[in-house]
Amino acid sequence: MKSPIISPSLLSADFLHLDRDIDMINRSNADWLHIDVMDGVFVPNLSFGFPILEAIKPVVRKPLDVHLMIVEPAKFVKELATLEVHTMNVHYEVCNHLHRVVGAIHDAGMQAAVTLNPHTPVELLTDIIQDLDMVLLMSVNPGYGGQKFITHTVDKVTRLRRMIDDRGLKTLIEVDGGVNAATGKLLVDAGADALVAGSYVFGSDDPLEAINTLKRL
Ligand code: DX5
Ligand code: ZN
Repeated sequence: MKSPIISPSLLSADFLHLDRDIDMINRSNADWLHIDVMDGVFVPNLSFGFPILEAIKPVVRKPLDVHLMIVEPAKFVKELATLEVHTMNVHYEVCNHLHRVVGAIHDAGMQAAVTLNPHTPVELLTDIIQDLDMVLLMSVNPGYGGQKFITHTVDKVTRLRRMIDDRGLKTLIEVDGGVNAATGKLLVDAGADALVAGSYVFGSDDPLEAINTLKRL
């Protein structure tokens, strides 16, 4: 079995010592770095935006997996492409013209991912899944790190895995929120390809080993 893609979430890093935490990520077996951008409108919280992304970009040696929890993600395709972002995740719930947004992300040279809130059924992707590089399933209500994992997400992974495999697609399944060694195992067993982990990694006494633990699932 191949090991899951691990994408530690910078939201749980120590913002007074970002250089130290990014150095840890660079030295780790993490595959990507997950970046949570919040606007205080789509989600009830603010995080950070371009000044932080521009500051960290030259020193991060992992592909950037950017999760936009904002109401008008299509506005920022060009800026993210300029930052050589690997994957741009936009929420299904805010895109009236999702097919157009996905096309714009691809035209800008990035991987396109659609994110679903816990209440949004995976079946709503039936007519767009073939155009997506990844689906990001939220296993918490987005807006904060350190929340409790919503177990029903495992069922969503199973249904999405079936949809992807039945069509012979290569679309990846990523899951975000409340991921630790126990919930991560349930998700990988159900068919998840990639795991985001914030507090489990940065809250650990040994973040490098926490990442290794997830890689071994
Ligand atoms: C939540 C963010 C997550 C968050 C995950 O809205 O999208 O990426 O950082 O944090 P944990 O792993 O602590 O639940
Ligand atoms: Zn996220």
